[in-house]
Amino acid sequence: MSKYDVAVIGSGPGGYVAAIRCAQLGMKTAIIEKYSTLGGTCLNVGCIPSKALLDSSHHYHDAVAHFEEHGIEIPGDIKVNLEQMMKRKSSVVSQTCDGVKFLMDKNKIDVIQGVGSFEDKTHIKVETSEGESQTIEAKNTIIATGSKPSNLPFIELDKERVITSTEALKLKEIPKHMIVIGGGVIGLELGQVYRRLGAEVTVVEFLDRIIPTMDSALSKELTKVLKKQGVKFHVSTKVKSVERKGDEVIIKADDKKDKEIEIKGDYCLVSVGRRPFTDGLNAEAAGVEIDNKGRIKVDEHLKTAADNIYAIGDVVRGVMLAHKAEEEGTFVAETLAGQKPHIDYNLIPGVVYTWPEVASVGKSEEDLKEEGIKYKSGKFPMRALGRSRASGDLDGLVKILADEKTDEVLGVHMIGARTADLIAEAVTAMEYRASAEDISRMSHAHPTFAEAVKEAALAATDNRALHV
Ligand code: FAD
Ligand code: NAI
Repeated sequence: MSKYDVAVIGSGPGGYVAAIRCAQLGMKTAIIEKYSTLGGTCLNVGCIPSKALLDSSHHYHDAVAHFEEHGIEIPGDIKVNLEQMMKRKSSVVSQTCDGVKFLMDKNKIDVIQGVGSFEDKTHIKVETSEGESQTIEAKNTIIATGSKPSNLPFIELDKERVITSTEALKLKEIPKHMIVIGGGVIGLELGQVYRRLGAEVTVVEFLDRIIPTMDSALSKELTKVLKKQGVKFHVSTKVKSVERKGDEVIIKADDKKDKEIEIKGDYCLVSVGRRPFTDGLNAEAAGVEIDNKGRIKVDEHLKTAADNIYAIGDVVRGVMLAHKAEEEGTFVAETLAGQKPHIDYNLIPGVVYTWPEVASVGKSEEDLKEEGIKYKSGKFPMRALGRSRASGDLDGLVKILADEKTDEVLGVHMIGARTADLIAEAVTAMEYRASAEDISRMSHAHPTFAEAVKEAALAATDNRALHV
């Protein structure tokens, strides 16, 4: 029987990063993955394919809507070749997954393919889909089994027309009308992909605004921009039924005035969140406990109820993001090596990769009000920047929230071109507990979108933004 210092179950961003860090720290490591490719949800059916399609559809939209203004003429019609777009996406995915395999080999990590299930707290049986099995022994185990799409109890996902993100990433045709249930990250990113490619898109959201966990200024601006792009919204609307009739999907819902509405489309994307995944793990055999939301229970060191077993990523409490899973993977590896790592969960940024991009870190205005923290706010509109005018990306704003007395930055919220990258400046500043004035005194290259961060900091410091 093979023996390891550490076995990692699941090869998503949590699992594979944990495995690399364990190997770097000198532990004999194995990674167990039930699928034939490594990388988990993020690389196979999440972050990477969705961004590939966002980028391709963005190029198409630019060609159709903006090239002429830039003086670029394309003779003949500009057409979408969906098959080629999907082919490129698949090749991006496979190159990225192969990259993870390369990293496993480079770090001498044993990759074991099959479903891992506990026999007891130090033995894991790994069974392939062909029924072959082996048992390995591991002093410590890191569970990184991730998540799967959630559903509403009355919806039958036929995975053809009533679909989750996994199917939406490989459609064979552009929907005529895609109905999106859930105005969160997946619904808006994939909704925008198909809107750009020509589909009518209607988003039905249960709460009173889209991206409801982010600062409301971002929801408001994103709603405005997406409406301009032709996306339709029904907020404060409760879906009651989803019915498939041939190629048609019919949705019935109660709107904000409790009036029944009916929406007809040809595809319905259900994107109402994700649930932790522990099927087949046989966690109880190892003494690992699961909470009432299906998450593996962990303490502040990410240790489960079994003292040699840890859990990380989407399968434990907290936001379901790849970079959160990665931080936790590193955290556990370093803990096992006797180090004292730290994660500041308040500083994990959230990004929506629509265009304009939406990015956020720290407390929202709603959080600060709820927590009774006195704050001041500085805002700056993207349209006032020279860089925005040059590129034509005029939508959006940067908002900086700072402590009323100390001026410490408590939250940064932005929507606009390239804010997914700009948010890193805010994370760095907050990690070092910068004040708004600190940011306002740093030189930002001109002309860049980053100047909006400096200007918002100037606005927060003493209402002294320069370019509005
Ligand atoms: P996962 O990536 O889910 O990996 C878990 C792995 O464990 C899987 O490969 C699974 O097969 C394997 N597994 C499960 N059980 C077993 C078992 N018993 N034995 C063996 N293997 C097992 N996050 C971002 O930060 N940025 C984004 O842009 C982003 N975009 C996304 C887009 C979409 C459409 C989706 C669905 C998600 C997106 N996410 C994004 C979320 C991100 O994918 C997850 O937060 C991340 O993948 C979680 O990593 P993980 O390691 O916890 O689990
Ligand atoms: P989400 O939690 O982002 O959004 C779900 C939305 O559905 C919420 O707005 C919620 O209010 C709404 N909703 C819930 N029940 C509903 C109902 N009955 N009717 C109508 N609306 C309802 O979840 P989503 O978009 O499915 O994504 C899942 C996870 O994947 C997220 O937690 C996110 O962290 C991760 N992800 C991250 C991305 C990124 O970082 N860019 C991209 C895509 C996914």
